Amino acid sequence: MSPPPTEPAAQPAAEVIRTSTSQAFCCKSIDKLISDSENPEHRLSKTLGPWSLTALGIGAIIGSGIFVLTGTAAAGEYFQAPSILHAQALDLIVNFLRTGTTAGALMHGRPPAGPSIAISFFLVAVACSFAGLCYAELASMIPIAGSAYTYSYATLGEIFAWIIGWDLILEYVVSNVAVAVGFAGYTKAQFAAFGINLPDKWSSPVWASGQWTGAYFNLPGFLIVFILTLLLVRGVKESAETNNIMVAVKIGAILTFLVVGGMLVKPANWTPFAPSGFAGIVTGGAIVFFTYIGFDSVSTAAEESRNPQKDLPFGIIMSLVVCTLLYVGVALVLLGMMKYTTFVSGEAADAPVAYAMKYLGVHPFFRSVIVIGALTGMISSLLVFQYGQARIWYAMSRDGLLPKLFSAVHPKYKTPYWSTWIACFAVGIPAGLVDIGDAADLANIGTLFAFVLVSLGVILLRRNQPDRKRAFRVPFVPWFPLISVVLCGGLMLGLTLITWLRFVIWLALGLMIYIFYSRHHSEFKKIG
Ligand code: ALA
Repeated sequence: MSPPPTEPAAQPAAEVIRTSTSQAFCCKSIDKLISDSENPEHRLSKTLGPWSLTALGIGAIIGSGIFVLTGTAAAGEYFQAPSILHAQALDLIVNFLRTGTTAGALMHGRPPAGPSIAISFFLVAVACSFAGLCYAELASMIPIAGSAYTYSYATLGEIFAWIIGWDLILEYVVSNVAVAVGFAGYTKAQFAAFGINLPDKWSSPVWASGQWTGAYFNLPGFLIVFILTLLLVRGVKESAETNNIMVAVKIGAILTFLVVGGMLVKPANWTPFAPSGFAGIVTGGAIVFFTYIGFDSVSTAAEESRNPQKDLPFGIIMSLVVCTLLYVGVALVLLGMMKYTTFVSGEAADAPVAYAMKYLGVHPFFRSVIVIGALTGMISSLLVFQYGQARIWYAMSRDGLLPKLFSAVHPKYKTPYWSTWIACFAVGIPAGLVDIGDAADLANIGTLFAFVLVSLGVILLRRNQPDRKRAFRVPFVPWFPLISVVLCGGLMLGLTLITWLRFVIWLALGLMIYIFYSRHHSEFKKIG
């Protein structure tokens, strides 16, 4: 997740200069971006120190993933009919190289990671640290607030900016679908704790684990996005102060769970610790990568940071360290409270933390404190991502890559209201239909791909533009970026074939839009 590229407001007349004979490789002028950001209305003050950056990261990172995916990743997934679509990409490649066929990779589902999901959380955090440092260098080359879309347009060229912008939709929209589905699961559990049972048909996914469930629509998932959109269109956004409060609430909810749940742990539940060995740890890691999405937001606060060279890496690493400690703790406690096989389906899969506490008879007061705290955290995460997506579409539309509608500004509230409403339905409707797993897998592959591109971009730009000032430099280039590429690429290979197919279709669709629409409407096209 990255903060908005720019605030929607009147921009100075664009001075666009072609930087390459090929339009696809034209870069936006950094001077223009800087002059835009120096517009006094939008100038950001350098107020963020190392701990504020850490809080920014934690605020974006903790959403619903830890409260939902820990259970399902540990329990694995089982399908009646074996299918190659559910095989891991890595499994397929290995099978093909060994036997020349893919028959050995037919899968009935995902192997369970069991309690070893705690190790997956740790390994994924290491991969994220390398990617985060690369992101920080790219962000600090352009000293304005922005997303990877803006940075790549200024450094790598239009086609890369388009691919990243299109890909970021997976990081923002699709991951918010997953967060909204998680929100719905916990809302249902909390209503039940208050003695109100929401009808299953209107509060469950319509499609889950590869089949129709018989439900009509997951209304709570849609409604929360709809209500937040009403606020966003009116110009509500999270300030640094609100973020700090949300971070305290989220951490408070998790720490309470660690204490309350910790007293109910039975060490026997931790055996077997790794029922599927290393394969389970990698597959689990590819799923729980989702819980770390959002840490890249720290790097995009370069412009507001007092000392980016020291504070950006500190903020990235520290927010990852704090979240990793909390995540590993939740995983060990949850899977110590109940056997990992419990969380395979139903209520136990939708809201595992709430389920385990209810099943083991935790006092309703503590259950409510934890679940309401978790729900509050999910709302703040949804708000930030919805806000960010609308701003990225706004920026892409202003550059001509998306239709003008996306940069239409509300006459009274001065917000990009069309983009905000489109983001509402793009997230809310799928949130009413799918389960968290499918959405999280797609968000993961898209985000991991963006990290791979950003890491390669760092190596490329060190060669092509060695003299450009960088407020933060990744140490040991090209090794650190290469490690990031290998680790993020490895996690991508841990995802299933069906996720890869969806991702490739998504990218192909994006390229078609670029070829048939965006290329012809870009600022660079207009100046021929
Ligand atoms: N990292 C965010 C979550 O876990 C997306 O919900």
